[in-house]
Amino acid sequence: MASIPFHFLVLCSIILSITFPIPSQASFRPKAVVLPVTKDSSTLQYLTTLYQRTPLVPVKLTLDLGGKFLWVDCNRGYSSSSYSPARCRSTQCSLAGSKICISCFTGPLPGCNNNTCGLSPDNTVTRTSTDGEVARDVVVVRSTDGSIPGPVVSVPKFLFTCGATFLLQGLPSGVQGMAGLGRTRISLHSQFSASFSFDRKFAICLSSSSTSSGVAFFGGGPYMMLPGIDVSKSLIYTPLIINPVSTASSYFAGEPSTEYFIGVKSIKVNGKQVPLNASLLSIGKEGNGGTKISTVNPYTVMQTSIYKAVVGAFVKELSQVRRVAPVKPFRACFDSNSIGSTRVGPGVPQIDLVLQSSSVYWRIFGANSMVQVKEGVLCLGFVDGGLSPTTSIVIGGHQLEDNLLQFDLATSRLGFSSSLLFRQTTCSNFNFTTKA
Ligand SMILES: *[C@@H]1O[C@H](CO)[C@@H](O)[C@H](O)[C@H]1NC(C)=O
Ligand SMILES: *[C@@H]1O[C@H](CO)[C@@H](O)[C@H](O)[C@H]1NC(C)=O
Ligand SMILES: *[C@@H]1O[C@H](CO)[C@@H](O)[C@H](O)[C@H]1NC(C)=O
Repeated sequence: MASIPFHFLVLCSIILSITFPIPSQASFRPKAVVLPVTKDSSTLQYLTTLYQRTPLVPVKLTLDLGGKFLWVDCNRGYSSSSYSPARCRSTQCSLAGSKICISCFTGPLPGCNNNTCGLSPDNTVTRTSTDGEVARDVVVVRSTDGSIPGPVVSVPKFLFTCGATFLLQGLPSGVQGMAGLGRTRISLHSQFSASFSFDRKFAICLSSSSTSSGVAFFGGGPYMMLPGIDVSKSLIYTPLIINPVSTASSYFAGEPSTEYFIGVKSIKVNGKQVPLNASLLSIGKEGNGGTKISTVNPYTVMQTSIYKAVVGAFVKELSQVRRVAPVKPFRACFDSNSIGSTRVGPGVPQIDLVLQSSSVYWRIFGANSMVQVKEGVLCLGFVDGGLSPTTSIVIGGHQLEDNLLQFDLATSRLGFSSSLLFRQTTCSNFNFTTKA
């Protein structure tokens, strides 16, 4: 498969030479690192692969934008001579924010040691969590100059949490855990930034195809997509908002959410304002309401009253097109033969998420609003989240595809590119070919 960033055997030989220090390589300081992101066609999850352990093995993970940290199943097949549990009251435990000390009676084994601090790894797809030990092991990734992959680089003591085999339920087969990019000191971007002295920035660009991979960058731009387009140069910015109350399935009182919220103030369809209950759009005292971005929801989820209003406005603007029987989980479906096509997908009314001012909006075009559910049928790809979901709007994967999103933690703002299709490129156009 051409999208695999580098061949594993090649990687092994490169690692071997890093393990035995060679001055020129030891002093190599990456500008940024890059991970491939593929889409699983059956679960619609976005997957990435890291290399971890000694000897190194590829570890396939579900990417979780709001996730707290990296967790992997340590119970089945974890073997590594460089694994080390984080001892209670160590600096690693305080960095991880762990407040518990655990014992284990069937070890010592990876995931089962005495006097180790613990965290709760979360399967955010099924909303299941468990307790697991915090540990360290080597992680290896590709560096990049922003246009092609460069030498591999390693983080010798990358902190993660041990999950359990049952926690993998709901993830695609072969996946061994989740890669969290949330707002914590031990999420992937935080550890890459700390290890390589990067700017506290990362970007994701999800591919709409399950056969060619998208990309995640850590450390900042440029973000070059073939044919030579630097996407970092033309981003629109909006503040990232911290939800003071955790939105995880298990947490301690007083913990803020590790997910990324933005301030959607109103929604327009074809330039016309959709009447909405504005109080649902702000974050309430209990952390409910507001708008977040999620890579574990395949489609945007809206609280029922917002959903009905947006679908109603959309159907009205598209009244010249024949509606057909709805296909679950969608409600508004159309005969695609009577919808024209444009550079940015099916020619349907634009949906704008209006942000901090009327001139700053996230515009959703047909490629991101419509889902082809079968031959001849296109549905509006939003789903009803019920009357009282924790978060009123969850912007999901289909709406993120072929849009680059940059999360800048230092300035607390989101940069978004809008549809790359306008610029005749896509998120699968990062050149993953390594130099011979
Ligand atoms: C943890 O300590 C208990 C009690 O001292 C002991 O029985 C157990 O074997 C130890 N477990 C490990 C993993 O060392
Ligand atoms: C608007 O939403 C808030 C928060 O859910 C709710 O308390 C209020 O009753 C709603 N107002 C209307 C007019 O539906
Ligand atoms: C992709 O990068 C490789 C070097 O890593 C280069 O040889 C190749 O020409 C590039 N492909 C394109 C389409 O620019």
